[in-house]
Amino acid sequence: MQNQLARAAPFPIALADFPRILASVTHKASYRVGPAGWNTPGFEQVRAIRFEVFVDEQRVPAEIEIDEMDPVAFHVVACDEAGGAVGTGRLFADPREPDLAHIGRMAVRAGARGSGCGAAIMQALLAEARERGFRRAVLSAQTHAIPFYAKFGFRVTGEVYDDVGIPHQDMMLNL
Ligand SMILES: CC(C)(COP(=O)(O)OP(=O)(O)OC[C@H]1O[C@@H](n2cnc3c(N)ncnc32)[C@H](O)[C@@H]1OP(=O)(O)O)[C@@H](O)C(=O)NCCC(=O)NCCS
Repeated sequence: MQNQLARAAPFPIALADFPRILASVTHKASYRVGPAGWNTPGFEQVRAIRFEVFVDEQRVPAEIEIDEMDPVAFHVVACDEAGGAVGTGRLFADPREPDLAHIGRMAVRAGARGSGCGAAIMQALLAEARERGFRRAVLSAQTHAIPFYAKFGFRVTGEVYDDVGIPHQDMMLNL
C-alpha cells in the first residue's frame, strides 16, 4: 500500500502543514486525509466537492454554501489512491464555548461513497479536535446520515428541524 501511495499523483495538500496526515485503508479502498487552508489550492478542491455534492446534488442554494465560518475553519480533503480529491469536511470552535467544536460540511463525491472515505475524514477531524483540546463535538446531521455519525459515537440531542429543505437533527460527542 505504501508503494501504491508513493506512486500516486501529487497530493494536492501542503503535507508539511499536517504532521498527522491520516491514511485510511478498508477492504474496498484507501484514502489519505490532509488539511486544506482557506485561500490555498487545497481549498479549491474543498469548494469543488461541496458545490458538486451540496449545490448540484442536494440543491442547497449556491450563495449560502460558502459561509462566514469557512475562512476560520480547519478544512480537510480526502484523496484516493490516484491522488484525486474525493471528500471533505471542516471543524471550527464555537464562538461562545471554546471547548466546543463544530464539525460539518461532510461531503464525499457520489462515486466514492460507501468505501471508507467519510470515515477517514471523520477520523481526521476528531483527531484534530482532540489535539486542539476540545471537550465536545457537535454537528447538524442530515437525518439520512445519522447512522453514519452514530458509528463514531455521536448521539442525537434534539428534534428534527428543517434547514434549506433538508431534515436535520443535532448530534453531540464527548471527546
Ligand atoms: C454521509 C457521507 C459523508 C458518508 O461518507 P461515506 O464515504 O459514504 O461513508 P463511509 O463509506 O466511510 O462509511 C463509514 C460507515 O458508515 C456507514 N454509513 C455511511 N453512510 C451511511 C448511511 N447513510 N446510513 C447508514 N450507514 C452509513 C457505512 O456503511 C460504514 O459502515 P461500516 O464501518 O460498518 O462499514 C456521504 O454519504 C455523503 O457525502 N453524502 C452526501 C452529503 C451528505 O449528506 N453529507 C452529510 C451532511 S450532514
